[in-house]
Amino acid sequence: MNIKNTASSPTVLISRSRLEERVSELAQEINRDYADTDLLVCIGVLKGSVFFMVDLLKQVEVPVAVDFFQTASYGGASTPGEVRIRKDLDLFIRDRDVLLIEDIVDTGYTLRTILDLLRFRGARSVKLCALLDKVETREVEVPIDYSGFPIDNVFVVGYGLDFDERYRNLPYIGTLSDPTTPTPEPTDGNR
Ligand code: IMP
Ligand code: MG
Repeated sequence: MNIKNTASSPTVLISRSRLEERVSELAQEINRDYADTDLLVCIGVLKGSVFFMVDLLKQVEVPVAVDFFQTASYGGASTPGEVRIRKDLDLFIRDRDVLLIEDIVDTGYTLRTILDLLRFRGARSVKLCALLDKVETREVEVPIDYSGFPIDNVFVVGYGLDFDERYRNLPYIGTLSDPTTPTPEPTDGNR
């Protein structure tokens, strides 16, 4: 992929310390809810969820297995919400407790597709943990069991989230101040 040289610098929306605090709270909730689970299969959606997932799972005390999906969406007018799996799971999840970990839920199409697939494959339970919830832009219903922060309909970067592959390593969630920046086009495989 071509990485563009955009000049705008993000404005802090959610600071590093607020992220740390909320991620710890989410981990404690997960520890409570899964206290009796012998193995929790934690599935991240590449690439955006990786930073959040690592910080979260370091504080999860139940035994976990880790795996990843990568998706690509073709959100053109002719195929709204069509999601393709680019990288499938390595693990079998039949009769497993599964926790899906995502950076942000926007329209909901990505998560809806993955949740349906996990259930179809016979997971014993499937729950969703999402750091950010863009409540206003939801088009399909997706129940979020562990939700970090509701946010307005603004394009955010940092802590895993990108604009054209940039900004993922910011330690905070920020907004891009340059008014010419996104509405992001659907991208091939860099969720
Ligand atoms: P959905 O299928 O519309 O819910 O899309 C979710 C995916 O879109 C996320 O996993 C992100 O990769 C991407 N996305 C949605 N909103 C943003 C944003 O504000 N910044 C960066 N990526 C976003
Ligand atoms: Mg992306």
